[in-house]
Amino acid sequence: MFYPADLIETIRMSNDIYDVVSEYVKLERKGTKYFGLCPFHSEKTPSFCVTPSKQIFYCFGCGKGGNVIHFIMNIENLDYVEAIKQLAERARIALPDPDDETESKKAHIRKLLQDMNVEAARYYHSILVSQSGFPALEYLKKRGIKKSTITRFGLGYSPNSWDSLYKYLKSKGFNDEELLQSGLVVKSKNGTIIDMFRNRVIFPIFDVRGKVIAFGGRAIDDSKPKYINSPDTLIYNKRRNLYALNFAKAFCEETLILVEGYMDVISLHQNSVKNVVAALGTALTESQARLINKYAKQVILAYDTDNAGMAAAERAIDILCSSGCAVKVMSLPDGKDPDEYIKNHGNDEFNVLVANALPYIEYKIKRLKEQFDISTTEGRVLFLNQCASVLAGVENSVEREMYIKSLSEEYNISPEAILSEVNKINLNAEQDYAIKQKNVLQSGLNAKNKVYSEKDMTFNEKIKYEERFILALLVKDNKLLDIMKDKIDGDWFTDPSNRNIANELLMLYKTQKQVTVAELLNAMPPEVADDFLTILNKHCLCEDNLKALNEKIKSVAALKVKNRQAEILEILSEPSGMPEDKIQSLKQELKDLVAKLRNIKCIG
Ligand code: GTP
Ligand code: MN
Repeated sequence: MFYPADLIETIRMSNDIYDVVSEYVKLERKGTKYFGLCPFHSEKTPSFCVTPSKQIFYCFGCGKGGNVIHFIMNIENLDYVEAIKQLAERARIALPDPDDETESKKAHIRKLLQDMNVEAARYYHSILVSQSGFPALEYLKKRGIKKSTITRFGLGYSPNSWDSLYKYLKSKGFNDEELLQSGLVVKSKNGTIIDMFRNRVIFPIFDVRGKVIAFGGRAIDDSKPKYINSPDTLIYNKRRNLYALNFAKAFCEETLILVEGYMDVISLHQNSVKNVVAALGTALTESQARLINKYAKQVILAYDTDNAGMAAAERAIDILCSSGCAVKVMSLPDGKDPDEYIKNHGNDEFNVLVANALPYIEYKIKRLKEQFDISTTEGRVLFLNQCASVLAGVENSVEREMYIKSLSEEYNISPEAILSEVNKINLNAEQDYAIKQKNVLQSGLNAKNKVYSEKDMTFNEKIKYEERFILALLVKDNKLLDIMKDKIDGDWFTDPSNRNIANELLMLYKTQKQVTVAELLNAMPPEVADDFLTILNKHCLCEDNLKALNEKIKSVAALKVKNRQAEILEILSEPSGMPEDKIQSLKQELKDLVAKLRNIKCIG
């Protein structure tokens, strides 16, 4: 059986490639990449490279490459389904049983769960505003939450009882088996079914369209845990949703503010800051970062300024940057969270902080400054070395130069000295990388790794290569996809495996406006992944991607024409007793093809 694509993608994203590969290969960091001795062929110097930001591996020696799924297939010698199973287990993700319900039964359950959540939300809300809601209402009042906010966010109260929601939902006609799948109730040790949330303020969690899909519940006294959140269900995945995105989506085209807690979101909303979302009780995930990137041009982190908050912010910055977000960080001065800050200082002062949010690099440098004693020479050296290491991670050279300039002015150190530190860090990595690329290109002995020389290739090989080059360009530079998405489709591609890749690529792009290499690889068998990454890593090194794309598209068009010409000449050269009019029409086609060849144009 085959697993659904989104489940496979969740499994891939839940297994960081660096972590997984490290279990088998000793990796050493060089700039933004990691190198080690290739586990797939024998070698003395490392050619095996892991790129965490792209979540792929590639060996410049033997040409093996792919995402984490391919790595496990290759190293454990497993087939696709077995590799998925192993990675799901590693990430503790439950896989559907092969003899599980059919899709239509699942759809039916989804619908039931959806209805159940709506009923539960209504129930909790009605309790909150009834007499028995008093303790929770008092709590919310104490925290400054207004009636209108309670209504807008559909807040509720789960009474201090073992099974009031359970009984209510039973009365609405849901049976035990259905109820247990919603995560709203659980089976207790003695086998009775009890409510998940008891004596808690209830925060309904909405999907992006505003449908209730889960709940968070906060204790109204000091009882632990402070929050309980719904488990993942058929309709809810806490790693793929963001709290309040349904409200924020209309206000966040420019800027989205990311906070840690439900209460922060609600409190900011109440104070007219509506472009705000929170993760759902887990650290920010890759797929949430992509969601953010899809809705907003830039994201501002407004995490708590305690140690835990700052550590969480560092991780969130890296994940957001890898997903291509422009990231800024806001500092809340008195160590408070956004909720308390806006309550005490109001909307205007909060907006000043928003306006003063630092680009993440500046934020990182500011944090480093706090960690070193820069009044001593030793401290300054350490500080600047750390800064150089942060700056080495900035890919845009103009941006990097700006930061170097401002550091140099602030600390009265020549920009050249800082630059040379940055370069030292990057040089190793990049030189290594470039040398590897060049070496392999030159030697190109290994069959899999052979340099594609026009002469030796059949038409099918040539066209497969050229088409794959086009696909590699499109996933490397998603802007090109935007230009090409309506101009080519899967059928444009001649090679069947390329047609599959193209269909997958266009489908992903249409649904999520962004496609990563690792994600596209999900749909490829290992040998296709190897070949695809060889093209991406060793051939697709152009400066001007659009120009390269246009050239390749013209080259494919020309190849197709030339191939047809060859076919016709072949037919005509053999005596076949073909009727004269047929021969004439082939000759005409041949002439047309010559004209066509002359007129091939760019389409991008
Ligand atoms: P208040 O403390 O009421 O202001 O809530 P908050 O929303 O500001 O929460 P906080 O900043 O402490 O935590 C951020 C988020 O982490 C919460 O909104 C929850 O999603 C999650 N969280 C906090 N505490 C717990 C816990 O004990 N268990 C679980 N599962 N999640 C928690
Ligand atoms: Mn809080």
